[in-house]
Order: sequence, then structure tokens, then C-alpha cells
Amino acid sequence: MAHISDERIPNNVNLAEDKRLQRALEQWQPNFLQWWMEMGPAGFQAHQVYLRTAVSVDSDGWAHFDFVKMPEYRWGIFLADPVADRKIGFGDPLGQPAWQDVPGEHRNTLQRLIVTQGDTEPASVEQQRMLGHSCPSMYDLRNLFQVNVEEGRHLWAMVYLLQRFFGREGREEAEELLMRRSGHQDRPRILGAFNEPIDDWLSFYMFTMFTDRDGKYQLLALAESGFDPLSRTTRFMLTEEAHHMFVGETGIGRVVQRSAELSRKAKNSDARELGGIDLPTLQKYLNLWYSLSLDLFGSEVSTNAASFFAAGLKGRAKEEKFQDHLALEGTYAMELPRQDGALSPEEVPLRSAMNEVLRDGYVEDCQRGVDRWNKILAEAGISERLRLPSRRFHRHQGVFANLSFDPDGRVISREESERRRDEWLPSAADKRYVKSLQAKAIDKPGEMANWIAPPPRGINNKPLEFTYVRAEA
Ligand SMILES: [Fe+2]
Ligand SMILES: [Fe+2]
Repeated sequence: MAHISDERIPNNVNLAEDKRLQRALEQWQPNFLQWWMEMGPAGFQAHQVYLRTAVSVDSDGWAHFDFVKMPEYRWGIFLADPVADRKIGFGDPLGQPAWQDVPGEHRNTLQRLIVTQGDTEPASVEQQRMLGHSCPSMYDLRNLFQVNVEEGRHLWAMVYLLQRFFGREGREEAEELLMRRSGHQDRPRILGAFNEPIDDWLSFYMFTMFTDRDGKYQLLALAESGFDPLSRTTRFMLTEEAHHMFVGETGIGRVVQRSAELSRKAKNSDARELGGIDLPTLQKYLNLWYSLSLDLFGSEVSTNAASFFAAGLKGRAKEEKFQDHLALEGTYAMELPRQDGALSPEEVPLRSAMNEVLRDGYVEDCQRGVDRWNKILAEAGISERLRLPSRRFHRHQGVFANLSFDPDGRVISREESERRRDEWLPSAADKRYVKSLQAKAIDKPGEMANWIAPPPRGINNKPLEFTYVRAEA
């Protein structure tokens, strides 16, 4: 049943046949819309935006482009097609049929995993809600809104699971997903990176490059889940997530390209002289968002991760690539801090190292993006390079939290870490500078802010000069 129905809530889960669920979701829908009007993109709710909307989950049918006002976007519930006779691919239940319902003994854990994932989706919309007023082009403005409406849909995806499978508690959690607020003193979002402000476009691109990519790896791990509805939901979310990372990686790529062009023209080789973003500033923003995103994977050594894996709830990204799906034997070698703060090599039982295994895939994926940025620099004749800092640098979760390391991963004193902070992370002056470049929106079709290069092509074969966002009704 691939086609999405035309009901009030578009779906491919036969919603019409489950009246109780339909009622619950229809009760939640106005609260979602109220949240969207309050916390969604500020100042653009009445605009017509050229958006991609899912009309079916087939590989060629889910990307349908048209003008739509964001509050009228067809948010709905789409699961990837079922895999016939799917078996659980890892952990103690290896080889058993995937569960179509929640096993009682895993109820609380699964609910927690789904709520934690679900909470990130509205959080990022809240973090990005003011960015429309400082966009570097209409093309970028449209991409921002595409990301925003899809994060809204990801919230729907998680709320469907909560309401369909977790009873009254699930319905309460669904309401609470609309009550927490990113960065709020008393009721913040659950995870750290989702409470950080994203109030300039450099942060937005870094977020979509690094933090959305954490999302990709979490979704890949959940796509392996023995709980089949979660697997199918996350598999479809991954198709949307790819676009978010495209926006981030190509966004930074275009800033890098422009930075290179301007620094070659500038008398002192500093892109800032001609209104660009210099590489040292880019590196600091990279250091910040990469380290915040590494935190999202949790601790290097984790009994929670071990029990998620053991129970068949959360696997490794692309579990089929691994030989041993039980992971009961074998260890993972890591350097862990000793009592005195120095690092020493340790062998961690494999199941307890599952967060680090997932993080490894993420780090490699990030590195490929950085390599592509460095290729842009090389082709422009610039000798400097961007790089990922050590995964120990600037951490707030896991075994390296509350210890001090430089970007090379060397142990340093707290005093040195504080003294040199502005060398490694965006300073107040850096943030002021980046914001000063984005004081007003560049919103004429085809125009581009001075600090970023144009993309090589427009959206869905439309020219770059296309009016992607229209003020008129
Ligand atoms: Fe998402
Ligand atoms: Fe995303």
C-alpha cells in the first residue's frame, strides 16, 4: 500500500481503519499546527514556498514539487514498505521474526528511544525560526523551509509510533513534545545540541552538516530495530534526511569557495577584508558543531547502549556489513582517561562500545565532507585546509566530558583550555562579524549574498533565478 491517502492526515498506514488512532491523531493535529504557528519560521507563514511533498513512498513518487503555504504542508505518516518475513538482525533475538507490536519487557526503553528522537525534530525548527530574515538568497530560504517542514514531518513520524503503540503514556508524551522549547530555562529540549542557538546561517549550515548527520546515524541504527514499525518509519525518514545534509555540506562548500575567491583578491589574503568568511572562523564554527554533535552519540562506554543492542532494539548502522551480529565476544580498543586525567589504552567489551562504533561511522562520513571542502580549497590554489578536531575536544558527554583537550586531542590544563578558548571556538567578536554580514535578507530571485558562492544549479531543474518563495497569496 504505497500510495498516500487523501484524508485529513495523509498516510500509508490505513489510518481510516483504526478509528481510535485516527481520533488521537486528529486531536493532536491542531496542537501541532498551533505549535507550528508559534514556533515555526517567523514571518513567512503566509508565503507560497516551492516545496517537495511526499505523495507516495515509492522511490520515484515521494518527491512532488509545488507551491504551498507552510501551514498547509501535507504533514503525514509514511512508512517504508514492509520487508517480507523480516527477521531481527542482531542481539539476543537474532533471527527471530521482527516484532509488529511492542514487547512488554521493552516498552519503557522503546518509548524513551522514540521520545528522545522525536524531541530533536521540533527542536531544530525552533532553533532555526528566525533565519528567514537573514537569508543569503531565495534559493537558501526555500531550502531552510524544506528542512523545517520535513523536521515537522519527522515529529509526526515519532508521534504516530507513540500514539499507535504506547497507549495513554504515548499520548501524553506526544503532547509534551509540543511543550518543551529549545533553549528554555525550565522546559528545554532533551539533548544539548538542540538547545544551542542557531541564529546565523553559518551555524545553520554547520548544524545541517554535522547535527543532522548525527540524526542520520541514529536513524540508521533504529532502522535495524527488531520493532518493525520503528524500522519502517526511520527508513522513510532517512530519504528526507539526506536533503538536510546536502543543504549543510553544499552550504559550507559554497562559503569555502567564496572565502577562497575573496582571500585571493584581498591585499592581505584575508577574506574578511572583502566581506567574506575567513577559514579560521569557519574552522571554529566547525569545531563547535562537530563537538556538540559528537556528544549526541552518548558515552564511549555505555551499559545502556549494550542493553539496547542485546535486546534487539537499536543496532549498528548497516548491521549487515558486520560478520558477528551477537557481539558477545571481542573487544573494542580505546584510549580512556585514568583517574589522574592521563589517557591509557583499554579493551572495552564490544556491546558496551556500541555508541563508539556508531560514532566511528559518523566520523568517517564527516571526514568525507571535509575532504570535499578541502578539494575546493586545493582547486582554488589555497594551501590552508579545514579539519575535524579530535573527538576528545570540547566534549560535554561521555568519558572526556569535564576534561580539557586541545583540538589535536592532547591533554591540557583547564586554565589553558579557558585561556585559548577563542582560538578554537567562535568568539563573541567572530559571531558579531558573521552576523554583521547577514544583517539583511537577500531575497530577490537570483541574487546572492557576497559571503557565499551561488550553487551550481537550482531546485528540481528550475533555474537559480526562479522565484522559490512568493509573498503574494
Ligand atoms: Fe529529522
Ligand atoms: Fe534533519
